[in-house]
Amino acid sequence: MPTIPSGVRGATFTGWGTALGHEIVTNDDLARSMDTNDQWIRERTGIERRHVGGSTAELSIVSGRAALSMAGLDPTSIDALVLATTTPDRTVPATSATIQNSLGLRCGAFDVNAACSGFVYALVTAHGLVAMGAERVLLIGTDTLSRITDWTDRNTAVLFADGSGAAVLEHSADRGHLLGWDLDADGSAEDALYCDIGGFVQMDGKEVFRRAVRIMVDSATKSMAHAGVTADDIALIVPHQANIRIISAACDRLGVPMERAAVVIQDTGNTSSASIPLALFDAADRGRINAGDLVLMVGFGAGMTAASAIVSWGAR
Ligand code: COA
Repeated sequence: MPTIPSGVRGATFTGWGTALGHEIVTNDDLARSMDTNDQWIRERTGIERRHVGGSTAELSIVSGRAALSMAGLDPTSIDALVLATTTPDRTVPATSATIQNSLGLRCGAFDVNAACSGFVYALVTAHGLVAMGAERVLLIGTDTLSRITDWTDRNTAVLFADGSGAAVLEHSADRGHLLGWDLDADGSAEDALYCDIGGFVQMDGKEVFRRAVRIMVDSATKSMAHAGVTADDIALIVPHQANIRIISAACDRLGVPMERAAVVIQDTGNTSSASIPLALFDAADRGRINAGDLVLMVGFGAGMTAASAIVSWGAR
């Protein structure tokens, strides 16, 4: 796995924004239509409520516009749009094309599908574009999993929801914030979690759980090694928000106390590509991240994919 060459053009976040589906669905709401209950969902997943509604483009436009506004940028100054999503609005064109037009961008736009690892995959891709000369990249992670969830299947319906998180990544004169990264995939596990075109998500929950902790820890360990840091150096870990027990087990194995984890799953459920930016920017907005803090993002998802990145927080 590559390490970041010295002298590469770096970048940092200069703006961000988030969006959630407009309808709140509580565990009690679900219990009215399927054989489940609030206590089971809270104890087994950590989820209390989730937000559903809106298309992938609609949520992305809200989060993307907020990120551009915070960065103080004219949309025409963006050099590329990268959308991480596993729930595009259409098979063709890429949903990023709709967002590009609606936000008034005048640049290339493309989708990245790496399931719940998507935001970190897109982050690394966006850094690659900056390394190749781009000045400003708009990076969005959005999923509308409610549209591919069978709302009569308690195995999956208690978990999935809709959301979006966006960031402006701008070239910086110094080395930028990315210190280490890792992207992994093991396609031999694709049947553990999949959705056929036109169908609903199918999941072997126990198998996904079993693999998730291992591949998150593996990926995070590789990123820390590439960055030359240890778990003690990590001020904030931002794990994929799939299940509080997965987050807790991964933190435990990594040696990062849960007090240093960004957790929003109780309010968001699993929003796939949006989950890491929702947790990251919630922590930033709450003042939990100081300049120079090392932040470890780590995700896993269908594929099965895993991805992690360590950034030195430098955004204004
Ligand atoms: N509500 C109430 N009871 C439920 C239930 C639900 N939604 N789902 C399962 N149960 C019951 C089971 O029937 C079983 O009952 P039994 O003991 O009488 O047989 C019991 O709860 C335990 O079921 P089990 O499947 O062992 O639960 P679990 O602890 O493995 O939790 C998941 C299930 C899906 C929450 C968990 O496996 C998980 O989170 N896996 C990872 C999924 C994931 O992260 N997917 C996205 C990846 S990006």
